[in-house]
Amino acid sequence: MAVPVRQGKVRDVYDIGEYYLMVASDRISAFDYILPTLIPDKGRVLTQISKFWFERFDVPNHLVSTDLSGIDLPEGLSAEELEGRTMVVKKCEVVPIECVVRGYLVGSGWKDYQSTGAVCGIDLPAGLPNCAKFPEAIFTPATKAEEGHDENVSFERVVQEIGLETAEALKQKSLHVYTQGRDYAASKGIILADTKFEWGFHQGELILIDEVMTPDSSRFWPADQYEPGRNQLSFDKQFVREWLESTTWDKNSPPPELPAEIVAKTREKYIDAFERLSGQTFKWR
Ligand SMILES: Nc1ncnc2c1ncn2[C@@H]1O[C@H](COP(=O)(O)OP(=O)(O)OP(=O)(O)O)[C@@H](O)[C@H]1O
Ligand SMILES: [Mg+2]
Repeated sequence: MAVPVRQGKVRDVYDIGEYYLMVASDRISAFDYILPTLIPDKGRVLTQISKFWFERFDVPNHLVSTDLSGIDLPEGLSAEELEGRTMVVKKCEVVPIECVVRGYLVGSGWKDYQSTGAVCGIDLPAGLPNCAKFPEAIFTPATKAEEGHDENVSFERVVQEIGLETAEALKQKSLHVYTQGRDYAASKGIILADTKFEWGFHQGELILIDEVMTPDSSRFWPADQYEPGRNQLSFDKQFVREWLESTTWDKNSPPPELPAEIVAKTREKYIDAFERLSGQTFKWR
């Protein structure tokens, strides 16, 4: 069995010579644990969403192809299982900054705002409710932590780490891509509340890498149920989170297996997100 050069919570990266093969598995994580149950085709949904955005945006990116014919596949992996969940990508030098863009006040941003009136040092108008839409999206970078949670950092820290020119480019490009995606998603009834991009250098050029605006790297909310002042329903993991909350699991030990019904509903949610966004039918339905 081939060994990935990198294995994340969800994706496995294989070195195939000139390129990397990025394979999105059906693993799902919640409350910082990888659950023991797979969501069938989740990796395909994530890959198809990223592919859709890569082909739509006007910024250079790492996607070479999703066609695996003619490629020497890593030992032990079949074309059938890889199909739809795999991208051939350019090998890049990863810029070690998580480029978070927020369009709405939510999660750690909401907590930060409640105690400081700002989000990651960016001052905001007083009196905003939970999940309020910002007048303009904000760039709130974080450092990539090898272990545990990423740490929010100021723009000045980013400049110190990678230089002014690259820092400015990350900010401008990340805001640009988010804004394009947010406006497009809005036209499909989906709120893209926030997201995280990664960028890398390929032959001296800064290009968009990793996954792009998927439910794993972003918050997707159904627009017709949006209501500021409370937490929003999410498009993907809501059933999983709610079900886990209803069990006796202490979030501090190996999580339980998900019931078949939760798996089926979650799978349907992911597929729904792809189909609504892209207007295409999910091929592996
Ligand atoms: N074109 C590329 N060239 C080099 N590395 C890349 C490229 N695209 C993505 N990566 C890296 O590949 C990895 C993708 O794997 P994955 O997202 O599963 O892991 P992770 O982000 O480290 O961990 P997790 O998401 O589980 O917290 C990331 O480390 C990402 O920075
Ligand atoms: Mg990742």
